[in-house]
Amino acid sequence: MLTKPSILVVENDAAMVNRCGRLLLSRGYKVRTAESSKEALHFVEKYRADVDIMLLSLELPDLGAMSVIEVLHRIKSRILVMAMSSECGEEAIEAIHAGAYDCIRKTFTNARFWTKMNRVMERFTLARHLEILKKERESVLAKDSCDEGTILTILDSMADMILVTDQKGNLILCNKAVVESGLLSGRRLGRPVEECLKNKDLVSFMMATLQSGQPGRPFGHHEVCLLETGDAKLRAHINPVINGDGVIVGSVALLHDMSQTDAMNQVKADFMSMVSHELKAPLSALLMQISVVVDGLAGDINAKQKDLLGKSKEKTKGMIALVNDLLDLRRIEEGKALLVIEPLDMGEILQRSVDLMSLSAQEENIRLEVNIADDLPLLSADRSGMQAIFVNLVSNAVKYTPSGGRVTVDLNMAGKFLRIKVADTGLGIEKADLEHIFDRFYRIKSEQTRSIGGSGLGLAIVKGIVDAHKGTIHLESEVGKGTMIIVSLPLEK
Ligand SMILES: Nc1ncnc2c1ncn2[C@@H]1O[C@H](COP(=O)(O)OP(=O)(O)O)[C@@H](O)[C@H]1O
Ligand SMILES: [Mg+2]
Repeated sequence: MLTKPSILVVENDAAMVNRCGRLLLSRGYKVRTAESSKEALHFVEKYRADVDIMLLSLELPDLGAMSVIEVLHRIKSRILVMAMSSECGEEAIEAIHAGAYDCIRKTFTNARFWTKMNRVMERFTLARHLEILKKERESVLAKDSCDEGTILTILDSMADMILVTDQKGNLILCNKAVVESGLLSGRRLGRPVEECLKNKDLVSFMMATLQSGQPGRPFGHHEVCLLETGDAKLRAHINPVINGDGVIVGSVALLHDMSQTDAMNQVKADFMSMVSHELKAPLSALLMQISVVVDGLAGDINAKQKDLLGKSKEKTKGMIALVNDLLDLRRIEEGKALLVIEPLDMGEILQRSVDLMSLSAQEENIRLEVNIADDLPLLSADRSGMQAIFVNLVSNAVKYTPSGGRVTVDLNMAGKFLRIKVADTGLGIEKADLEHIFDRFYRIKSEQTRSIGGSGLGLAIVKGIVDAHKGTIHLESEVGKGTMIIVSLPLEK
């Protein structure tokens, strides 16, 4: 039911206010009055919902009426304005242009007043009816969107896959994405999941979820895992369906195809790799040029200059090491994909890698000993991977051994394995750190290691390369005594 519209009469002529007021009150309308545009706007602001129609004199001082119409228009007010003017000339046309509904001459007869007013009232009623209809329609739509057909349409429009079983493990719902993925083995809905789904892991996870809450199992157990089906990698979230009484009545699996995410990661990895490559050459050139100056080959330099350039040289070396780590990291992330397997003379590669580090060992007054067994067979492996293993293990041993210490590298055969042993008389590693030592970016923070630079990637890289070659790593360490790492690589895979 619509209530009668409330009317605000805005007029500074008391006789006019009286006349309009009496007429409107006689038919039971709620009437309020305002003497100026300011008062009118104030009223609208305060009781916006309580004004439906405004009878607005166009003869208020200072063109007040126009500003009221403009404000109402700007704030998208629903108030209908019936302008009143003595002439209904130019000013009335202007008011209507600005948004007033109509204009009535102030010399109106009662009949003329009601003809005009009835029209604006009708307009008011129509607008309110439209609003009510719109609201009703919206609520019907909301209800509509909850019916089963609409829900299924929504599920079918999803990129992710959804599978639902009942309490007994029968497949009762799956969306179009599941059908298109080829996960189904052709059975119809309503059959046990193990008959419907090709992926055995998914079946067992869904069944396990149904049994959650049974003796010995946590209630509401859910599973997040990675499933591999054919070429696709899927991330699966499997949850129990729990009804309002807290009873498990089914299980629901949401599967997300990771290939897009993988593609994004690939782009990032390629970018990292490209940047590292691009940095490597200029950094190496920089290092060489600084070395030439530091060594006095480009002319005499004073002690202060030598000291500063010496520090720059160390920082540049650090950057080169980081860039090398980033490039090697790519290797372990890509796993076997980047390996180039060829028969390798490991003794020669080890000797070259050690030569690179002998200078820094000398500077630190560390004895670096290398024992390479004679007649070692060739090893089928990735050359840069092998270099990375030697460089990382030997540089760690040198870095984490205090001045005056010793580093020994042995390369020999142990059964069908080629064995690389790197032992030092350095700082050693605490037991608590041992389990993290192969994690990416893990570095031990202590008073002694604080000034030693590094990325924490070295051992993660070594582990990745050794894994890719199906080898093993063994580590023994005692704090204050030293560390020994043995890498064994199988001759035949
Ligand atoms: N031979 C070693 N002796 C003592 N600590 C070591 C040795 N090798 C590695 N570590 C510890 O393991 C951490 C991880 O090594 P690594 O992955 O090569 O990273 P980084 O050398 O860049 O710090 C090092 O920060 C260091 O604390
Ligand atoms: Mg290292």
